[in-house]
Amino acid sequence: MATVTLQNVRKIYGRNTIAVDDFSLHVEDGEFVVLVGPSGCGKSTTLRLVAGLEDVTAGNVYIDGKPANDLPPRDRNIAMVFQNYALYPHMDVYRNMAFGLKLRKFPKEEIDARVREAADVLGIEDLLDRKPKELSGGQRQRVAVGRAIVRKPKAFLFDEPLSNLDAALRVQMRTELGKLHARLGATMIYVTHDQVEAMTMGDRLVVMRDGRIQQIGVPVQLYRRPANRFVAGFIGSPSMNFLEGELVRDGGPAFSGDGITLPIPDCQRDSLSGHVGRRVILGIRPEHIRYAPAADAPGESEDVTAKVEVVEPMGHETWLYIRIGRATCVARVSAEPVPLVDEVVSLAFDLSAVHFFDRETEAALLPDAPE
Ligand SMILES: Nc1ncnc2c1ncn2[C@@H]1O[C@H](COP(=O)(O)OP(=O)(O)OP(=O)(O)O)[C@@H](O)[C@H]1O
Ligand SMILES: [Mg+2]
Repeated sequence: MATVTLQNVRKIYGRNTIAVDDFSLHVEDGEFVVLVGPSGCGKSTTLRLVAGLEDVTAGNVYIDGKPANDLPPRDRNIAMVFQNYALYPHMDVYRNMAFGLKLRKFPKEEIDARVREAADVLGIEDLLDRKPKELSGGQRQRVAVGRAIVRKPKAFLFDEPLSNLDAALRVQMRTELGKLHARLGATMIYVTHDQVEAMTMGDRLVVMRDGRIQQIGVPVQLYRRPANRFVAGFIGSPSMNFLEGELVRDGGPAFSGDGITLPIPDCQRDSLSGHVGRRVILGIRPEHIRYAPAADAPGESEDVTAKVEVVEPMGHETWLYIRIGRATCVARVSAEPVPLVDEVVSLAFDLSAVHFFDRETEAALLPDAPE
């Protein structure tokens, strides 16, 4: 297995489509890194640059510390599994997995050993003589991964490999890929636009937008300390609520905007009091809005009156779409009581979990934002 390093990589398609820009990332040997971001943000292009299927416009790619910009794909020894992993329909599972090795003229015994080992790892030993059309979606997906495993590549690249599967199977395959990663100790770069998949699978996440890295970190770090409004809104479901306003002085420093005023929490008071007058966005996650009264110490939460617009019972909790001042927010509250639409409820904002972003740059206002 190997490290993969991208250094200030840029990819321009045609004259002026900047697909990837100033992309720097070092993937450790054996690490599972997930690239996540909305459609068109450059995830697939980044993988293709690592695999050598595209040339970089600028910057450098290193595999195992060695410059790889000029290495053709076959000499990089990197396996890529795509969303559309077209298996050969006329070949059985065994031959599908063996095919690549056969082309590379591996000895028959070596091919057989590798195919059987991969089948064992993936739990598809019993399916070796089936044709792809005789397999379920999840089984086909396993065969596609098997084709990559038999090559014993330096690193695996996965480009949304689960997006053709139904929800239940995705969750199952997610766990299986996690186990596979543990078992092979392999370096893996995994692309998805699904933030739940990203959060649950990656050792580290790379959040991308418009070809650029927004933030790199372990999942919980991105959740707790998003570097900007985009990451804050992208990680977490339902999304963080945002209120637009400014920092004012109201006794102590306070946020005022969208028809409400909230005191600045004690933990952020020192660092924010210097920013009074600044136009900011306040961010609060749905899970940090609860029914009042909250059992917090004074100064840690603030009660807010809200009008219920939509009630979505989830069973274990309820999602409330509420009007607070001029803003519509989502709150994840306890399953009981269930309020009526148009009812006015009293909710508590957990102030220790509030985020602030600059309204112009959208960068998080504090490097040491709430934990
Ligand atoms: N071969 C190409 N020629 C020209 N432009 C391309 C080409 N491939 C991708 N692009 C453009 O580069 C940008 C990044 O595309 P890319 O496929 O890397 O995005 P992505 O993050 O994988 O998106 P998705 O989630 O939809 O797969 C897009 O604007 C896309 O239109
Ligand atoms: Mg893509």
